Amino acid sequence: MSSTHPVSSTQEAIASAEAHSAHNYHPLPVVVSSADGAWMTDVEGRRYLDMLAGYSALNFGHGNRRLIDAAKAQLDRVTLTSRAFHHDRFADFCARLAEFCGMEMVLPMNTGAEAVETAVKTARKWGYRVKGVPDGMAKIIVAADNFHGRTTTIVSFSTDPEARADYGPYTPGFEIVPYGDLAAMDQAMTENTVAVLLEPIQGEAGVLVPPPGYLSAVRELTRQRDVLFIADEIQSGLGRTGRTFACEHEDVVPDMYVLGKALGGGVVPVSAVVSSAAVLGVHRPGEHGSTFGGNPLACAVALEVLAMLRTGEYQQRAAELGDHLHHELGLMVGGGAVEAVRGRGLWAGVDVVPSLGTGRRISERLMDRGVLVKDTHGSTIRIAPPLVIGKEDLDWGLEQLRQVLR
Ligand SMILES: Cc1ncc(COP(=O)(O)O)c(C=O)c1O
Repeated sequence: MSSTHPVSSTQEAIASAEAHSAHNYHPLPVVVSSADGAWMTDVEGRRYLDMLAGYSALNFGHGNRRLIDAAKAQLDRVTLTSRAFHHDRFADFCARLAEFCGMEMVLPMNTGAEAVETAVKTARKWGYRVKGVPDGMAKIIVAADNFHGRTTTIVSFSTDPEARADYGPYTPGFEIVPYGDLAAMDQAMTENTVAVLLEPIQGEAGVLVPPPGYLSAVRELTRQRDVLFIADEIQSGLGRTGRTFACEHEDVVPDMYVLGKALGGGVVPVSAVVSSAAVLGVHRPGEHGSTFGGNPLACAVALEVLAMLRTGEYQQRAAELGDHLHHELGLMVGGGAVEAVRGRGLWAGVDVVPSLGTGRRISERLMDRGVLVKDTHGSTIRIAPPLVIGKEDLDWGLEQLRQVLR
């Protein structure tokens, strides 16, 4: 591949990726070579406004100086020890993350799916050891249209045929109820229910906000029935919705936070389960772990992420710009191009009138105008720019959307 022949380099890069990588993704035909803040540049020098932010992994933007500096400083000291030994960033990371969440303990992993798996295992063990559920009987209630990751266990309780088909046999122990339906959850609950696992806003489903009062009612129900409330805040958490956690919009504190994406600052994969000592204290040495989980580089970056979030400025930015985003998107509804808009903070699902094209087609046309978004089911596109995006850039991106939908 030659950088002196830029016209063909996008095509060559895509052809090569198609030849040598499994086709488990269908990326937009753009080949990014550098990025800064909310902007990405492709191999041919074209600039694009990033309105996806790595599904919230890039809440603080590309190449955030504080995060890059923290990573660079740590790269020169020590990057990996495994958990066979202590290292000097670990205790600080766990203590500060626990405190930040108003919890007591942290179990660090790397990817979101690993953290969800960790939450599932923790809830089951808590069910057997603390709640007294008979061995092998633990049940976890999940919501239809959930997205919690891609492992065998997690796709076992997915309702998306694309994510699930041909990956069986499936892991048992999950009950699926409609999202937002408290009565169905109440009915599904038995004495063997150990946890409810929910996204406080369903991201992949199209940024679905549950009905008002749902999360607080789930909190109340789970408390009454001695069931753990696990909030998967991997995509919704750490500022995206204008609050640190999406659960805060209903003053809900779950029993377990599952965090990922933005915790690694878009630099390294960092995820974690954060909970009380009574819950995370069920694990004993050798029972669960990860070679890379809680490594020094991850801890250094995540500590910087926490320091940045502690000021509240990113949350405030997401709230203010989010109000603006939703106001502008709201004006598009009913004009013949947009059916509905949902979301909170700098996070929106936009249902385009299907006759105008699939979400994919809209995304391609936005790409041609220098805006990168991601479609989800059908004719829905998701908008989730980095929280550092400038208002003028956001407005410019929205103008491109208006033009495409015109
Ligand atoms: C809510 C939620 N949970 C879990 C995951 C899985 O995270 P990862 O891709 O890091 O495994 C995602 C990814 O999009 C997600 O949005």
